[in-house]
Amino acid sequence: MASRAFTTALRTAAAATRTARPMMARPMVSALKQSTLKTAMPAMQYRGMKTLNFGGTEETVYERSDVPKEKLLETFKDDTIAVLGYGPQGRGQALNLRDNGVNVILGQREGKTYQQAIEEGWVPGKNLFPLLDAVERGTVVMNLLSDAYQKEIWPEMKPLLTPGKTLYFSHGFSIVYKDQTEIIPPKDIDVVLVAPKGSGFTVRRLFQEGRGINGSFAVYQDASGKAKERTIALGVGVGTGYLYETTFEKEVYSDLFGERGVLMGAIQGLFQAQYEVLRANGHSPSEAFNETVEEATQSLYPLIGERGMDWMYSNCSTTAQRGALDWWRPFHDASKPVFEQLYQSVRDGSETARSLDRNSQADYREKLEEELREIRESEIWRAGQTVRQLRPENAGKN
Ligand SMILES: NC(=O)c1ccc[n+]([C@@H]2O[C@H](COP(=O)([O-])OP(=O)(O)OC[C@H]3O[C@@H](n4cnc5c(N)ncnc54)[C@H](OP(=O)(O)O)[C@@H]3O)[C@@H](O)[C@H]2O)c1
Repeated sequence: MASRAFTTALRTAAAATRTARPMMARPMVSALKQSTLKTAMPAMQYRGMKTLNFGGTEETVYERSDVPKEKLLETFKDDTIAVLGYGPQGRGQALNLRDNGVNVILGQREGKTYQQAIEEGWVPGKNLFPLLDAVERGTVVMNLLSDAYQKEIWPEMKPLLTPGKTLYFSHGFSIVYKDQTEIIPPKDIDVVLVAPKGSGFTVRRLFQEGRGINGSFAVYQDASGKAKERTIALGVGVGTGYLYETTFEKEVYSDLFGERGVLMGAIQGLFQAQYEVLRANGHSPSEAFNETVEEATQSLYPLIGERGMDWMYSNCSTTAQRGALDWWRPFHDASKPVFEQLYQSVRDGSETARSLDRNSQADYREKLEEELREIRESEIWRAGQTVRQLRPENAGKN
């Protein structure tokens, strides 16, 4: 698609964004307002749980204002929340909880990450402990260790999960694939999940900006009878703005499927295939990259995120429209069998087996690095480095 085709679309979108600015602090409400909500909920309230119509299906959404600060503090007044792991999720969620004023401690092994935690205000012996110490002290144990290590530490952790405690995950992985992880929690504890829909860096950044990331939540085991209410409160405490109810199974299936599909694997495959065809037909690396990645990420995808693909189709040149209308089906038909194969591989546990096997090998970092280097050194992404340097905001930096 020629960039020219989108000049008008960009102008329209920029104008719309300017007028929509007051809504920007509530991106989801803003997005919803532009579509179904406008007619479906004329007197929409910004507080309280609500049932919304998602393209014809009613779903319940919980939001941050369901759990004001006082309620959050009251809910966990007798708890010690132990966050295990200071990776992207552990860090984002632990810092948000701490800023929200709840009693939170951190469990982290010594090393580089531990030092980072100290630099960020965690104090050894006060609110920073070795992993199993933190499990012992915590009444809510938030397992944000790597999925592979969750399996490894489980035999030592399990006896410390005494009756009445809550075990929390941000992924259904360890529980759903229990045949492989052997993580089977005691019956007398709550087992819950809050999965922010994005990286831990975004969890933290949106919280600091006074916004909140979308997240899903699920209750696997409700020994206390209060698991759902407490999970929603935890979700708000860790920095989500809106919470959608799911199950452990649905969360893990959709998450593994999505990241292997359109979020990462499929998109890399499509970028690479289109780039190769352009190069094989004599296009220069810069032209092939611009027409494959740069225009997509810098112009079209942000607009699709903001306003939808339907809007994009309606706001491009008629030439682009004709071609995109004719060609989406062949791409759909070619890729659907691959998506079906992928879903099956997620559901039957093959993806988990592979991930646990590969990521628990002693030399997994080196092997991974080799594969990542192959992508990093491929022509498309090397061409991309140069194209990015020429973006207006980077001009003159090198
Ligand atoms: N729903 C979502 O959107 C979402 C997004 C991302 C992650 N998650 C989930 O959140 C959880 C945490 O993910 P993450 O990406 O933040 O973390 P990660 O990078 O996978 O794991 C990081 C933590 O695990 C520790 N760890 C790893 N191997 C260890 C070992 N052998 N011994 C002791 N500690 C070890 C790390 O300590 P060191 O730093 O010392 O190695 C670090 O604290 C996972 O369950 C993941 O699937 C969910």
